[in-house]
Amino acid sequence: MDHKFEMNTYNFILPEDKRPCQVPSTTSIQIPIIDLSDRDKRVKEIAKACEEYGFFQVINHGVPQGICDRVMTAVTDFFELPCDERARFFSTDPAEEVRLYNYYLKDNDVGDEKKKVINMWSQSFSHHWHPENNDFTRLLPTNPPQYKEAFSEYAKEIGDLSNKILSLISEGLGLEKDSLQKKMGEDPTRKSHANYYPPCPNPELTLGLSVHTDATVALTVLRQSEGVTGLQVIKDGDWISVDPVPNTFVINLGDQLQIMSNGRYKSVHHRAVTNRDKKRVSLAMFCRPNENTLIGPIDELVDDQHPPLYRHFRFSEFLQNFFNQEGTRRRVCELFELQV
Ligand code: OGA
Ligand code: NI
Repeated sequence: MDHKFEMNTYNFILPEDKRPCQVPSTTSIQIPIIDLSDRDKRVKEIAKACEEYGFFQVINHGVPQGICDRVMTAVTDFFELPCDERARFFSTDPAEEVRLYNYYLKDNDVGDEKKKVINMWSQSFSHHWHPENNDFTRLLPTNPPQYKEAFSEYAKEIGDLSNKILSLISEGLGLEKDSLQKKMGEDPTRKSHANYYPPCPNPELTLGLSVHTDATVALTVLRQSEGVTGLQVIKDGDWISVDPVPNTFVINLGDQLQIMSNGRYKSVHHRAVTNRDKKRVSLAMFCRPNENTLIGPIDELVDDQHPPLYRHFRFSEFLQNFFNQEGTRRRVCELFELQV
């Protein structure tokens, strides 16, 4: 078995200034919950949430609960397979198409080389997804036996939901409904990240997922286990929890949408904390641009009062910079900023 897979060889303890207890995490502010069946309000409410939070939750989204439950069970069962069965998928190579791995941070303030890498208290499983074409399931686990089918069914639904949300966001920006989709290019590589957070004996010393923005993404559609909190989002300098609401998706904007909207909408920092008693599972479905597509502020959103904040770049160029920053607090978006 791959020795790197043994959790007990890892260091999970964060330096004091990076531990979750250093920051207040209780406030009464809530991430907005938007009723997608409410045609009169949804465009405005989404636009407001995008401006104020970069995050929102959706209800009455039209995705059957059974399909969501099946995929969450399949993902959970995968993470709970015997260690050596999962270990086949373990890889430290981010280019691997199907990959089980641990997030980590490099702490350059620590002199001891071994202690430099701090692992997050989680495991992540990532692979492609596609709303229509099932080819992506070829390399997926055959155990649990329902994994492939549950995932392809779910992918279809999330394809529809993400298109719907992207058009509502486009409308809110005063653009044609298909404007953002068009801007992202034809048939991009879509990625999913499933995250598994085991109960943690010392939640105050570590994190499940370190502070990050979804950099390579325009839009993320996240499903989280019911009854366990963990996801936290920065709002006006405070961390607020996104407590799970039954049969709801958490939607957040990634860096690519921040750039396309010319900074009007922000890709907001978030993290996952651990808890002592219960495991938590989340499934993030990332909608990315096509790698050959030119990304930059959308023309209609640029004028004399709103000069372009970013230069145009090919999305593959962004990805290259992203992978070069592995293990650090990534600052990729900033590389494409223009001085105004
Ligand atoms: C992610 C993410 C949050 C969560 O996968 O990018 O932010 O709640 N996940 O697990
Ligand atoms: Ni994220």
